[in-house]
Amino acid sequence: MREIVSPAKAVSGIVSLPGDKSISHRYGMLASIAEGDSTIANYSIGADCQSTLSCMEALGAGIERDAQGRVIVHGGALREPKAQLDAGNSGSTIRMLSGILAAQPFTSTIAGDESLARRPMARVIKPLTEMGASIEAREGTYPPLIIHGRSLRGIDYSLPVASAQVKSCVLLAGLFAQGDTIVREPVRTRDHTEIALREFGADITTEKRAITLRAGAKLHGRDLFVPGDLSSACFFLVAALLMQDADLVIQGVGVNPTRSALLDYLAGVGASIKVLGVQQHGGELIGDLRVRASRIHRGAIDGPLTAALIDEIPALAVLGAATGGLTVRDASELRVKETDRIATLESNFKRMGVEMETTAAGFHLAGGQKFHAAELDSCGDHRIAMAFAVAALAADGPCSIDGAESAGVSFPGFFDKLREITR
Ligand code: S3P
Repeated sequence: MREIVSPAKAVSGIVSLPGDKSISHRYGMLASIAEGDSTIANYSIGADCQSTLSCMEALGAGIERDAQGRVIVHGGALREPKAQLDAGNSGSTIRMLSGILAAQPFTSTIAGDESLARRPMARVIKPLTEMGASIEAREGTYPPLIIHGRSLRGIDYSLPVASAQVKSCVLLAGLFAQGDTIVREPVRTRDHTEIALREFGADITTEKRAITLRAGAKLHGRDLFVPGDLSSACFFLVAALLMQDADLVIQGVGVNPTRSALLDYLAGVGASIKVLGVQQHGGELIGDLRVRASRIHRGAIDGPLTAALIDEIPALAVLGAATGGLTVRDASELRVKETDRIATLESNFKRMGVEMETTAAGFHLAGGQKFHAAELDSCGDHRIAMAFAVAALAADGPCSIDGAESAGVSFPGFFDKLREITR
């Protein structure tokens, strides 16, 4: 599908966003293996989180929606699926669910779309094998994964890459293991799994960068609410920050401190963003964001900050090129996301006449570059589709975006909402 996005002069209004993708996956999986019923309000309508629900349904969880759009999950023991599980485009689904599947008394196969078939899974196969599972993969790392469930033992595992998905995979496997499971992180990553596990009744503690899950706790169904997705909000924050005239309120966004490095980064480069009315739901912090037109200066993202902003880098690249410039380092993980995001950023910027210098693990964009009207391409990557839709607002004429439907992976309705807030 092709969308046309016209240049804009102003951003304003009050919007709310689909539920957080990361939190929805975790609630969907944990509710399915917990005893009893859970009700999840504002569960993400994005295709990725729907993939998680279909996998859990295929594994025997009862899943319904009530009149308010909440997801009701009837959890309990899982059963062998009748067919191959389909994780679609979702790295979170395949990596996190592998932890659960590795401990089941049956064999299951999980695969996904073409993009997922190119994403590395050795990072989850290695610790799960150490725990006692047996997993086959194409070339030892690529989906489909054939997971032979076994009784697992807890391990003490130091993550070689900073990855919340891998951390979560090991912790979810640890729920079924004999003995305690410890995961040590090189840098702190999003802690939604730890928070959700605690909410569902697991015995889990975090000390510095070591997370300990004690064996034996039973999980119980819960009523939960998913905050709006801060990574989706980022596209609207950047849209506002590209304008000379902007005053936008984004309601009910998750501002968990392990995700909100985005807000600190933006404040650091001069953005006027206020977080209002912060509340807690299920251990997660939720607030409204008010963003106003600002003068943005040069940005630099490296070290632990790169891991903390990894999903936001496409949007921040657009902001950097149009304003004060941006240098990104230590970001080799960008090359193994839904697309090689260094390459897909570069190819779209090139079409707009924007210069980008790239390295194996980063890039540099000079500031103050002019964005020219162009035919752009999502390359099937939701965050590239949305980042360049926002770039198009600052272009010198209308831009087309091919493969625009991929925005629906995390944010169905994105283009309509973008039109609602721009003029
Ligand atoms: C996620 C973790 C990150 C992030 C992804 C969601 C999660 O991936 O990029 O969009 O929900 O745990 P990695 O674990 O590969 O860093």
